[in-house]
Amino acid sequence: MRAQLTQRMLLSLVLGLLFLNTAAMGSCSANYQGLLQQLQSQADLLQDTSLLLDPYIRLQGLDTSELRKLCKERPGAFPSQDALWELSRWDLLHTLNATLGQALHRLTALQQDFPKARDWLTVTMNIRGFQNNIHCLSQLLRASSETAKPTQASPGASPPPIPASDAFQHKLEGCQFLSGFHRLMGSAGQVFREWGKTPRRSRRHSPRRLALRKGPRGVQLFRRGRRLVPMGQLPR
Ligand SMILES: *[C@@H]1O[C@H](CO)[C@@H](O)[C@H](O)[C@H]1NC(C)=O
Repeated sequence: MRAQLTQRMLLSLVLGLLFLNTAAMGSCSANYQGLLQQLQSQADLLQDTSLLLDPYIRLQGLDTSELRKLCKERPGAFPSQDALWELSRWDLLHTLNATLGQALHRLTALQQDFPKARDWLTVTMNIRGFQNNIHCLSQLLRASSETAKPTQASPGASPPPIPASDAFQHKLEGCQFLSGFHRLMGSAGQVFREWGKTPRRSRRHSPRRLALRKGPRGVQLFRRGRRLVPMGQLPR
């Protein structure tokens, strides 16, 4: 238990420093794999229900098997795992970014409801870091893509309204939101893990890769330098 806590603190510290480092420099790392790995680590950390959902359930007195059943995320509140897989890389980044921006608002409103301020801080800091990494990854994709276009916020990314009918309803909505949030981060982690295995093979965003694969054998290097985006802008 203690070792686990220490490990998490270290991890959040490292992730926080990575974020601060990037933010302070005001520029983005051009290391595609490095950014993916940071996003993965952050998603892995944020999917952990012991950070927010579990303590929330205990503190709000929802810790019975009956009530826990009601704490499932509401369908449509967050993009489903299947929906995430359907998206192009570009759309996925924007959907996650927009969804997390809204989640951050909601978490700020719920701040008083978490017993451990430190865990709440870890989460919000890593959401910001995650968004920053998304920003950097979008820039890399844009640099290596001729077809990238800005996209509208996708449906399903909007948070459910908070009717606040009564206190109990409010608690339930809080835990449903947290369930969905942790689940979304787990799904996002899986998608990024898959990206890491198949570097830039997406249909829309890898003209370079596509050109290399289709090109006649033996001229890859030449084509790469001559026909495509200048090397400096490409993720390495
Ligand atoms: C991510 O969302 C924030 C608002 O939460 C916005 O300011 C920023 O431009 C978005 N970045 C990208 C890459 O979409």
